[in-house]
Amino acid sequence: MRIDVVTIFPEYLEPLNVSLVGKARARGQLDVRVHDLREWTHDRHNTVDDTPYGGGPGMVMKPEPWGEALDAIEASGASDTEPAAPVLVVPTPSGRPFTQQLAVELSAKPWLVFAPARYEGIDRRVIDAYAERWEVHEVSIGDYVLAGGEAAVLVITEAVARLLPGVLGNAESHRDDSFAPGAMANLLEGPVYTKPPVWRDRDIPEVLVSGHHGKIARWRRDEAFRRTCANRPDLIERCDPAALDKRDRELLAELGWVQGPDGRFGRAAEPVEQ
Ligand code: ADE
Repeated sequence: MRIDVVTIFPEYLEPLNVSLVGKARARGQLDVRVHDLREWTHDRHNTVDDTPYGGGPGMVMKPEPWGEALDAIEASGASDTEPAAPVLVVPTPSGRPFTQQLAVELSAKPWLVFAPARYEGIDRRVIDAYAERWEVHEVSIGDYVLAGGEAAVLVITEAVARLLPGVLGNAESHRDDSFAPGAMANLLEGPVYTKPPVWRDRDIPEVLVSGHHGKIARWRRDEAFRRTCANRPDLIERCDPAALDKRDRELLAELGWVQGPDGRFGRAAEPVEQ
């Protein structure tokens, strides 16, 4: 996969040289190219922003440097093995939530271009213009506002890179990830343990050393349900009841959940105090 990042803070992307992403780059599984947006400015001050039309606080990123940068990147692909049009990812708090599902989708693309904004954002015409030729995703990594999109680029790149074939040692380890499409679609992963078997008088759950794979898998699934009920009840409410087995249903009932007329689970109503 090729990834281009256009930013006014190239040094912010240094962590892409470290750990999993850094190793994937060194092995040639990931080709990351970081570009300074100011290379595509033509004035003495390398200006990338201007005041917003309509007034208001803050500054808006000018369209011209972005247009030149994205055109140059597109042209650089023409001679390469990449397809003519990359997928443009624009991190913004106003975007669609970034999810594991979207990470899986993006990991299947051969070429991503990130356009992280600073200030109040990029002139809208840039996104509208490229959306006519490229697949464009405006993506938010959470309901909070960062000072710029670069941290979101690091987050999205790491989530995508670990899904690329050969990047993680054990390909099966994606299957049990929290949120992984399939059996874990709406579940958080439960707790994990390693040696020593006793630490500060604390044992590990016995089932994990039973050697009984079926029982271990069931225990893990129970723990995933317990954790999801505690930390993300909204995910249980979204769960497709058809994806649940008999024991899942029993456990949810034990944890105080009831099925509504549509089969979906909801928290049992608290008795109303008279
Ligand atoms: N830029 C600023 N805040 C952001 C967020 N929450 N997600 C993605 N990009 C952002």
